Amino acid sequence: MKNLIIAPSVLGCNHGDLSQASSELQNAGADWIHLDVMDGVFVPVLTFGAGVASAICSSVSIPVDAHLMVDRPADLIEDFAKAGCTYITIHPESSEKHIHRVLGRIKELGCKAGLALNPATSPEILKWVAPLVDLVLVMTVNPGYGGQKHILGMHEKVTVIRRILDKAGCEDTLISIDGGVDSSNASKLVNAGASVLVSGSYITSSFDQAVAIDTLRSFE
Ligand code: DX5
Ligand code: ZN
Repeated sequence: MKNLIIAPSVLGCNHGDLSQASSELQNAGADWIHLDVMDGVFVPVLTFGAGVASAICSSVSIPVDAHLMVDRPADLIEDFAKAGCTYITIHPESSEKHIHRVLGRIKELGCKAGLALNPATSPEILKWVAPLVDLVLVMTVNPGYGGQKHILGMHEKVTVIRRILDKAGCEDTLISIDGGVDSSNASKLVNAGASVLVSGSYITSSFDQAVAIDTLRSFE
């Protein structure tokens, strides 16, 4: 895998100063910062909004990847675009009925569009929106919490997604893995076609974040 992207999630960091936490992750070698935005409706937890995203975007020079685990993503994408996020990723399992339209709107706002697939969600949906999607976020936990057990076997889903995207002529669309990613499962996921690894607790609870990031990058 060329240029494997390591995107630490700040979910497990000190929410009192996520700008500082993000800056430290950047200094530790992170390629992106992954923001787990939760609204307490789509998932039971409430995390942070576009105001925090804006502060984080101002504190780093690397891309910020907003993972919107929210019930009504169309209500929020403009604010996260204005905040400076590079990627805005939405869930088709949310209440949003017009996923195709919202993905197009994210692109109109000048951001890259991501589609997150929960563990039980079929990748078939990609057939009808592939040209609009810059990133597919494969959930390897059921969303809502950090530090959960990685759901095994999702490397097979990555292979199917890669095949769908390549068949649609979308060879440049990135496949990102999100949930319980660590040194024990990264290799299989990268070999299956993942080019972005989101990792929260493995990195943010490690003694040396730079070592944890380098360890994940060694699987490229
Ligand atoms: C879960 C989040 C993930 C995840 C990252 O809803 O989307 O980003 O929690 O944290 P770890 O790597 O600890 O699962
Ligand atoms: Zn996430």
